[in-house]
Amino acid sequence: MNKTVLASDAAIEVKSPNQVFFCPEESQFYAQCLEKMVLSQSTSADTIFEFGSGDGSPVIQALLRSAFSGTIQGYELNADSYQLAKLRIEQYGLAPYYQVHNTCFFSSSPEKARYLIANPPYLPAPDNQLYMPSLHGGADGAGITNQLLTLGCEQVMLMISAYSNPVDTINHATKLGYDVVDFMVTPLKFGYYSSEPKVRNTIAELQRRRQAFFSERIYFLAGVLFRQKSASTSCLAEEFLKVMTAL
Ligand SMILES: C[S@@+](CC[C@H](N)C(=O)[O-])C[C@H]1O[C@@H](n2cnc3c(N)ncnc32)[C@H](O)[C@@H]1O
Repeated sequence: MNKTVLASDAAIEVKSPNQVFFCPEESQFYAQCLEKMVLSQSTSADTIFEFGSGDGSPVIQALLRSAFSGTIQGYELNADSYQLAKLRIEQYGLAPYYQVHNTCFFSSSPEKARYLIANPPYLPAPDNQLYMPSLHGGADGAGITNQLLTLGCEQVMLMISAYSNPVDTINHATKLGYDVVDFMVTPLKFGYYSSEPKVRNTIAELQRRRQAFFSERIYFLAGVLFRQKSASTSCLAEEFLKVMTAL
């Protein structure tokens, strides 16, 4: 199946939606979270690391809407996504601000990162035999999210879905010394990837085990800003979980 990644970008065609992540609603919300919670608060001296850049469009959108003049180092496993990201960055003249590397984030000395951003893989499933295997987030969906929090970055902005065990992620982050200092939430319809039967069955099973309730049609997706605890930060973890468990 051929698919144009952005309606306005007719020159760029993708051979398979299962290799290049394509969920405009989710990517646009990630872009908004980046703009409002990260780039508008950063300085020109900051270097931000990004796990899983995809086609690069969220960071590009956020950069175009902000005055951020530091640099973002993105890491993307998939070669097609990487090529798209590289092309887009050049088209928009953003190469001085955003560089993407076609390599696994975890093999790139991520412990050096002070600031980290990601819309990580968060699909819960027993294995990664999915439409898009690289979106597998482990048995409860929170595996990679929790791994990113263990890297010891000073500040981390992560997209977290209501069905991917946010309670465990918040407990994990708290144990590692993080406060939730800001968050943004939006309802999203279950889409192509999250509607795959194996994923939906896992979500239903997790729901039954946790005695949690999820709507059949929509779920909450949040951008959550974690910062290492300091005397001056207030923690919004409880408010965040209240919102995420409301549907
Ligand atoms: C949910 S998609 C997000 C893509 C993009 N940031 C967006 O929001 O549109 C997650 C991305 O992470 C990439 N990915 C998965 N594991 C990775 C790894 N270990 N290193 C780098 N990228 C990875 C996938 O290929 C995929 O493009």
